[in-house]
Amino acid sequence: MEEKSLIKKEYVNKIKTLKKHNEIYFSKNKSTITDKEYDELKFSILELEKKYNFLDHKDSPSKNVGFKPSKNFLKKRHKVPMLSLSNIFDKDDLINFEKKIKNFLKLETKALFEYSVEPKIDGISASLTYQNGKLVTGLSRGDGNEGEVITENLKTIKDIPHLIKSKNFPNHIEIRGEVYIKKNDFEILKDKFANPRNAASGSLRQKDSTETKKIPLKFIAYTFGLFENNKFKKQSDFLTSLKNWGFKTSNHNSVISRIDDLIDNHQNFEKKRFQLEYDVDGLVYKINDFELQNRLGFVGNAPRWAAAHKFSAAYSFSKILNIEIQVGRTGALTPVAKVDPVNIGGVVVSNATLHNEDEINKKDIRIGDVVKIERAGDVIPHVISVDLSKRGSKSIKYKFPNKCPSCGSSVEKEFNNLTKKFDAVKRCSSEGFTCEKISIEKIKHFVSKDALNIDGLGKKVVEKFWENDFIRYPQDIFRLDFKKIEKLDGWGPQSVANLKYSIEKSKDLSLNKFIFALGIRHIGQENAKLLSKHLIKKENFAKIDKNYDFDKFANIDGIGETQITSLKKFFSIKENLKVVKDLFGYLRIENEKNNVSGKLKNLSFLITGKLNNVSRAEAKSVIEKNSGKILSSINKNLNYLIIGEKPTSKKVNQARELGIKIIDQKELDQLLS
Ligand code: IVH
Repeated sequence: MEEKSLIKKEYVNKIKTLKKHNEIYFSKNKSTITDKEYDELKFSILELEKKYNFLDHKDSPSKNVGFKPSKNFLKKRHKVPMLSLSNIFDKDDLINFEKKIKNFLKLETKALFEYSVEPKIDGISASLTYQNGKLVTGLSRGDGNEGEVITENLKTIKDIPHLIKSKNFPNHIEIRGEVYIKKNDFEILKDKFANPRNAASGSLRQKDSTETKKIPLKFIAYTFGLFENNKFKKQSDFLTSLKNWGFKTSNHNSVISRIDDLIDNHQNFEKKRFQLEYDVDGLVYKINDFELQNRLGFVGNAPRWAAAHKFSAAYSFSKILNIEIQVGRTGALTPVAKVDPVNIGGVVVSNATLHNEDEINKKDIRIGDVVKIERAGDVIPHVISVDLSKRGSKSIKYKFPNKCPSCGSSVEKEFNNLTKKFDAVKRCSSEGFTCEKISIEKIKHFVSKDALNIDGLGKKVVEKFWENDFIRYPQDIFRLDFKKIEKLDGWGPQSVANLKYSIEKSKDLSLNKFIFALGIRHIGQENAKLLSKHLIKKENFAKIDKNYDFDKFANIDGIGETQITSLKKFFSIKENLKVVKDLFGYLRIENEKNNVSGKLKNLSFLITGKLNNVSRAEAKSVIEKNSGKILSSINKNLNYLIIGEKPTSKKVNQARELGIKIIDQKELDQLLS
């Protein structure tokens, strides 16, 4: 071979290798090469191009961004958490959303609100801190509490001002909005990313900001985080000022009041959504009045005063090749249809959930059927209906298994005491860590973003470590043999070092995250927070075993019979107690910070009867904002029983017997003033 073609061959090989690493990184979310090796490979390609001008390849890094996002950004806490939005799908949901707001604010049914209506751009949110007009920090959303410091990368976006000189620009403010990539700009990146959102995310997280700069990212501002001395009265006024200060805002923002007008607007907008220059997955409705927003506050990690009205899902048809049964963390058996890969609204779908046995029977879904599949946003695609005209004569009814496909245990349906019906979901009856699939799912949950948040230990890695017998219990993560990991396919010194670092970092965590991480059924993030606030110290948590007085938890507003039964069950299993004990040996769990300073600190309340001018929900929220606790039953720990109109006499009598202070609404107001 002559020299020229030899050089060309070497060059093309290098480009192919680079491309392979990029692809693995994006599809499997893992590094198959160290950062240093990656940079050297890229550099050698660029050097070859410099030396030989006949070298020119469409996938060359000189034409493309590197696209290996870094995982090693510094992290920083958001001064005000970055929240999510609850979803609305139809008019009934919308009516319900508004009704809840009116109930909370104790307003009449006919009251009218102004809503700020904004397109929900499907990008990546970012928070920009400005001090005296200067952009000082830019953070990604991260887990909502803590983001990555990506200031330099954000600064490459032309829509983001570095210095704002307007006189009325606040001295200290966090501006928040969406980073996105226009649909037509995405065309050139199509081979590398599944959708524009991934492309925006990947470009934003480049280690080298000159790489980010090559991508035409855009920014639209829509809200604020920390905002000292906010004098604005309305969201719509704030949006106007954002524009005057030099930010881009959406041209499609509007203010609408009536539900019917919101629905009309939604229908019209949905029709033109595909003509917009960016991907939009719905409309955001925000109560326009900031004072009302403040009164309404938050539930969980979403505001009561806003919601996302989603657009209807994209759908397509495909054939069911097989039905597989997945076993989840709580033992639920979920049937999943493996379908002929089909493109639905820009995403290739090959799995669709069938929910449960009842759903399969109701729709008579069978292997071999051609079905309609729907996909909306990030939700798992699901099968809607069967096209019976396409069913073959040999088709047979699907029979749902009666044994856990993972461990062979019997499966059961739980009886729901509230609905007096059996659950639709079949569950594996095994306990603790005896079922392989359940154990794997528990470990995945333990390391997941909202729990220990161990970077580099994604679902695929957990499976791989399981296959290699490295882990059987959550605590095994803290006694991994890194020498063995380094020898695994796709691992090297750099990725092992990264993993070590993230595992070490994960050992510092709050009590509520720890409780959530255990994956106790019915104890999600919110309930974990309630338990943690109640227990305060890790030592108190460590005392829990099967002889514990679980009924104490019934005092906590929000914890009910379902949660207590589940906790009892969890702590009656020896294996679980061992997991907790071992984990206590590895982790540095922080106690609940008792820096509450409100006027009602250390006081507990219970309300009975109707209050004046304020809903019970708002009264509770005011008490909690002032560091008071709400109890759900009368007992010796209660400090005050607040009585309104027509109180329950049984409660009043019980309180009298126990010598609990009984106060009315006026006296509560006095405590607060
Ligand atoms: S407001 C508490 N406004 O939607 C309010 N969010 O599900 C939350 N988003 O992470 C943010 N357009 O990435 C808001 N006009 C808009 C938005 C918007 C898109 C995204 C944002 C956020 C997610 C919440």
